Amino acid sequence: MQIKELVFASHNAGKIAEIKQMLAPLGINVKSALDMDLPDVEENGTTFAENSLIKSQTIAKTIGIPCIADDSGLCVDALDGAPGVYSARYAPNRDFDKGMDKLLAEMEKSTNKSRKAHFSCVVSLAYPNGEYKLFEGRVDGTIAPAKMAGVQGFGYDPLFVPDGYDVSFAQMSKDDKNKISHRGRAMQKFKEYLSSL
Ligand code: IMP
Repeated sequence: MQIKELVFASHNAGKIAEIKQMLAPLGINVKSALDMDLPDVEENGTTFAENSLIKSQTIAKTIGIPCIADDSGLCVDALDGAPGVYSARYAPNRDFDKGMDKLLAEMEKSTNKSRKAHFSCVVSLAYPNGEYKLFEGRVDGTIAPAKMAGVQGFGYDPLFVPDGYDVSFAQMSKDDKNKISHRGRAMQKFKEYLSSL
């Protein structure tokens, strides 16, 4: 079964741009929940997989075409894995500049002085008949002592320095970030699945 059309269940412009860029070479027409003016789905799960599926399955059933969703977040060792699944809500009024200040302040207060962190992502593909597949990706790195210059990316990118690099995600081109990011890795597995169909 070949997939020619997919809906990406997200209203996050940063994520939408990344997913469209990753799927463009496959000739799949990707529309987002934002493009289609679909309502936001409440994410009340407690894991990335649960939240990802809540979004993809709700929209696939509503509109009757296969739908993908991602749920992702930043897990900081010194904060026992927070903000994790709550990464979007952790930022006051979804202002990530303030969210990054909050993160740095909480790390400062923590007795655990590790700077280690990782981004996790679970991409789910839901079919209108209820069947689904999950694809996971993770990237390890460190939290910089302060926001680093750079205007690429979104969310917590200016604070996250992937292992093996000395620049943050906000200083990398979209292509370079996609090659190693949690979302890029999960999407690579998703693309391999699509090619196996
Ligand atoms: P959700 O998956 O829509 O619940 O949102 C996850 C949140 O995690 C985003 O709003 C960002 O704050 C953060 N996040 C996820 N992926 C990235 C990324 O690639 N860079 C920076 N922040 C991210």
